[in-house]
Amino acid sequence: MNRSYWEKIAPEYNSEIFDVLFNDKRSIIQKEIQLIAGKNNTVLDIGCAIGKWLPLLSSSFKKVIAIDISKENLQIAKTIHSELSNISYERIDMSGVNPKIKVSEAAICINALLTDSEKKRTQFLTNLSKCVKKKGKLIMVVPSLESSSLTSIIRQKWNPDKDAHKSIIKKKSSLQVKNMLQGNIAIDNVFTKHFLKEELEILLDQHGFNVTKVEKIEYNWNTEFSKPPSWLKFPKPWDWMLVATKCA
Ligand SMILES: C[S@@+](CC[C@H](N)C(=O)[O-])C[C@H]1O[C@@H](n2cnc3c(N)ncnc32)[C@H](O)[C@@H]1O
Repeated sequence: MNRSYWEKIAPEYNSEIFDVLFNDKRSIIQKEIQLIAGKNNTVLDIGCAIGKWLPLLSSSFKKVIAIDISKENLQIAKTIHSELSNISYERIDMSGVNPKIKVSEAAICINALLTDSEKKRTQFLTNLSKCVKKKGKLIMVVPSLESSSLTSIIRQKWNPDKDAHKSIIKKKSSLQVKNMLQGNIAIDNVFTKHFLKEELEILLDQHGFNVTKVEKIEYNWNTEFSKPPSWLKFPKPWDWMLVATKCA
């Protein structure tokens, strides 16, 4: 999952990529953004893609810096949100070495730390830590490994999408196992990092953040199966949202 992957997907972004803002039906993330909002503050939207969160961030902060590795995504975001005057757009690879990012009071990073490369994730987190001011706030959303395992167990036992299953290209089982052990799960045949709650807590702690809240962002089962069984209600599939304060 490198830059060319994101550039390629940009024109079809809405149909290809899961929309967290739309699917967070309880608006948990929006409420959390309101809690860290500040009219004198700058917020970074790290991995902004086509800018779904920009209208909310624009009205909640003095300035928004929309960051993405994909030039194409940034161009689309800029065009869609041309009426929002307090946003600047910067093409930055968060896994690059020493990117120039304005150190800011707040950052959101919603399903952007997805790479299956451990080295790139560490660099991403190092850069993220550097660009949030001391006592600054971070809202981070990541795919949940626990939720992915639950979906996989339900799929093995009840196989709700027998037909859809046929189209899944099986990767070599040795490759699958190697990736699974690192929490890399194939989504649409692309290995994507999924996190255990405790794993991300440790990682944020190691990168100078104090985690103050962890919540599930729950979605409907039709986001996992095209025909979820009618009895399948709770628990719902979820991503993890972590809220953290940069240590002083
Ligand atoms: C799944 S999209 C999430 C978009 C957005 N945060 C949202 O919630 O709608 C992930 C985005 O992260 C960006 N991204 C992935 N790796 C990145 C990196 N190393 N540096 C900057 N952006 C990155 C991708 O280009 C993509 O636009």
